[in-house]
Amino acid sequence: MTHPTFSNLRIDSDRLLGRLMSLGQDGALEGGGVCRLALSDKDKLGRDRVVDWMKELGLRVTIDKIGNLMGFLPGREDLSPVVLGSHIDTVATGGLYDGNLGVLAGLEVISVLKDSGFVPLRPIVVAAFTNEEGARFAPDMLGSAVDRGSLDLETALAIKDSDGFVIAEELARIGYAGEAEPGHIDPYCFFELHVEQGPVLEEEGEQIGAVTGVQGISWTEYVIEGISNHAGTTPMRLRHDAGFAAASVAVAARKVAEEIGDGQVVTVGVNELNPNLVNVIARSARLTVDMRNIDEQKLQQAEKRLAEEIAAICKAEGVRYTSRTLARFEPVMFDQNMVDLIADVAMEQGRSVRCMSSGAGHDAQMFAPVCPTAMVFVPSQGGISHNIEEYTSPEDIKAGANVLLQAALTKAEEK
Ligand code: GLV
Ligand code: MN
Ligand code: MN
Repeated sequence: MTHPTFSNLRIDSDRLLGRLMSLGQDGALEGGGVCRLALSDKDKLGRDRVVDWMKELGLRVTIDKIGNLMGFLPGREDLSPVVLGSHIDTVATGGLYDGNLGVLAGLEVISVLKDSGFVPLRPIVVAAFTNEEGARFAPDMLGSAVDRGSLDLETALAIKDSDGFVIAEELARIGYAGEAEPGHIDPYCFFELHVEQGPVLEEEGEQIGAVTGVQGISWTEYVIEGISNHAGTTPMRLRHDAGFAAASVAVAARKVAEEIGDGQVVTVGVNELNPNLVNVIARSARLTVDMRNIDEQKLQQAEKRLAEEIAAICKAEGVRYTSRTLARFEPVMFDQNMVDLIADVAMEQGRSVRCMSSGAGHDAQMFAPVCPTAMVFVPSQGGISHNIEEYTSPEDIKAGANVLLQAALTKAEEK
């Protein structure tokens, strides 16, 4: 099924791994892993490195107003391009692979094309989107959401991190407030190679995931206000303890996940107390709740149940609370033909394949509503991610990147 002129092309896994390790130096943490929060000084270093590679490969580089990087390779005809995208920002305790693999595998596809002299019919774009993680600025998938018009540029530029730093100013500070209009590229289709970040492929002994969709994501921040008082003198019955209420919310969140069952996941990832002192009842608490489900109805049910629990907890403790939605994305299904293409290419290459949905959010989900989109997953050792221990073997990286290469070139040869 693959075109004779490119079916023999293969990625150079040493070159791909070499770039992964080099990019991992920007923001490297002691003991391994990376902290390259979006629009930080380390993100600037990583971006500079990726832009240098894009230029070395002769790509036309554009930076748009939300800082998305795009490297453009012309095709034989001036048609809409095949886009290979992901992100290079990380969580504060990130690994070397999450996001970075997708961007660098895209560059590897370009490197293979350059070496071979094969020019595909359609242009190919390698994209690195701003702030996919949402670890510094909410929502996640911010750059790809702006690119696809589901988040307004002005709104995005005004978003602040928890220290009050504004996206527009941080983009300018690191030199990535570009001139191009977000969405200036009209994609023919979109591919993202990514590490699974979960245990399924490894547990099932399969090498390639053909990703069918991404579960819905709901992020809410709660601020609970109680009354600060002396830990020794205040009788239990007279307390309005924001810390106790926040802890109860975390317990209730776990209970809601168990109640809904069926793949509902709930995480309280931030729980900050103020003043956070051993002998002072907390005056306030700030916590975040991350809820996900592949089924939108169930996700809505979980949101409703948690809201009821929080109202009851805060009423009983005599504390006030406010809530703010940080991110809300409905579940996304990828294009069946694209999923089949990935599965077919993987099987042609002798790989074991599993069709599976994604537990993590991805830039690809922003593209799914506007063009045929799919993702390739490779196994994550121990199912570990958002952790410096994140690891995917060179063999699996090579297998995934070869699937990306052949699937992308198949689409790039379509008229
Ligand atoms: C992004 O990485 C997310 O799924 O939280
Ligand atoms: Mn990612
Ligand atoms: Mn991530």
